Amino acid sequence: MAEIPEFHDRMLSLGLARVSEAAAIASADFIGRGDEKAADAAAVAGMREQLNKLDISGVVVIGEGERDEAPMLYIGEEVGTGKGPGVDIALDPLEGTTLTANDMPNALTVIAMGPRGSMLHAPDTYMEKLAIGPGFKPGTVTLDMTPAERVRRLARAKACSTEDITCCILDRDRHAEMIEEVRGTGAAIRLITDGDVAGVMHCAEPDLTGIDMYMGIGGAPEGVLGAAALKCMGGQFFGRLIFRNDDEKARATRAGITDFDRIYDRDELVQSDVIFAASGVTDGSLMPGIKREVGHVTVETILMRSKTGSIRRMIYRNPV
Ligand code: FBP
Repeated sequence: MAEIPEFHDRMLSLGLARVSEAAAIASADFIGRGDEKAADAAAVAGMREQLNKLDISGVVVIGEGERDEAPMLYIGEEVGTGKGPGVDIALDPLEGTTLTANDMPNALTVIAMGPRGSMLHAPDTYMEKLAIGPGFKPGTVTLDMTPAERVRRLARAKACSTEDITCCILDRDRHAEMIEEVRGTGAAIRLITDGDVAGVMHCAEPDLTGIDMYMGIGGAPEGVLGAAALKCMGGQFFGRLIFRNDDEKARATRAGITDFDRIYDRDELVQSDVIFAASGVTDGSLMPGIKREVGHVTVETILMRSKTGSIRRMIYRNPV
């Protein structure tokens, strides 16, 4: 019987950082140029080219969309040289296309890799999300609590006042009530216009970012990527898929989802150890963005392994 190649996360992690860096560098010329589509297309092409150099038999499980919608890095696309271990890949070559086009903070390139079956094949729908950082007891906050209750419970767990809590929320009309309720507790809100993978990651390093909790509805694929990041950094994440119509339910069914109301916790979204890399495209509170100087480009990448909890911050400078 053929031997199943092991998932050598340690060896593969540097390769993953290269993939993330390549996407960021490819998008650099499009920062602040007002063209979201061109920025995304460049990042996708850069990520795919580098991904295909890795000795893996990879399958994209979270990608640019379904096969008929995305020319590259679509769900189900096989990537890598085909010579290495079978792995599942979740990616977002440019998380924050509008942020990039407008040179606004926290645009990232993001990729996670794990053994086959390691991550939920989340459909391209919305997900209600809730995240807090490490060090809290299970049940401190849940998706079933009201937003105000979450703030009060987190403040109690931190032995601080609700006024000392800062929540990160996507600035969308659908969050108007949530925003009002959270403000009613005295908590502060950092409204972001896009980029909720970064929003979730901010919770893992509250002293650095000033964010204690992320909540609200965003993309489901980004939810799995956020959960993968917190699996490496520590922290709690909960997600519930949101469906707006039958087409979205059909997408979920095609992705193998049967319970439409289920609340997934972090380790149900990401079931085994993964590696995760993200590179800064525009300046943000997690990482600086790409620097273009005469003759070279510099990009910073955060590279993490959930097995060890190790976090590397790598600065890559390359001639252009
Ligand atoms: P893109 O980079 O694909 O534009 O996604 C950005 C993003 O803000 C995500 O971070 C978030 O999950 C999602 O869009 C929110 O969706 P919507 O803009 O439809 O509210």
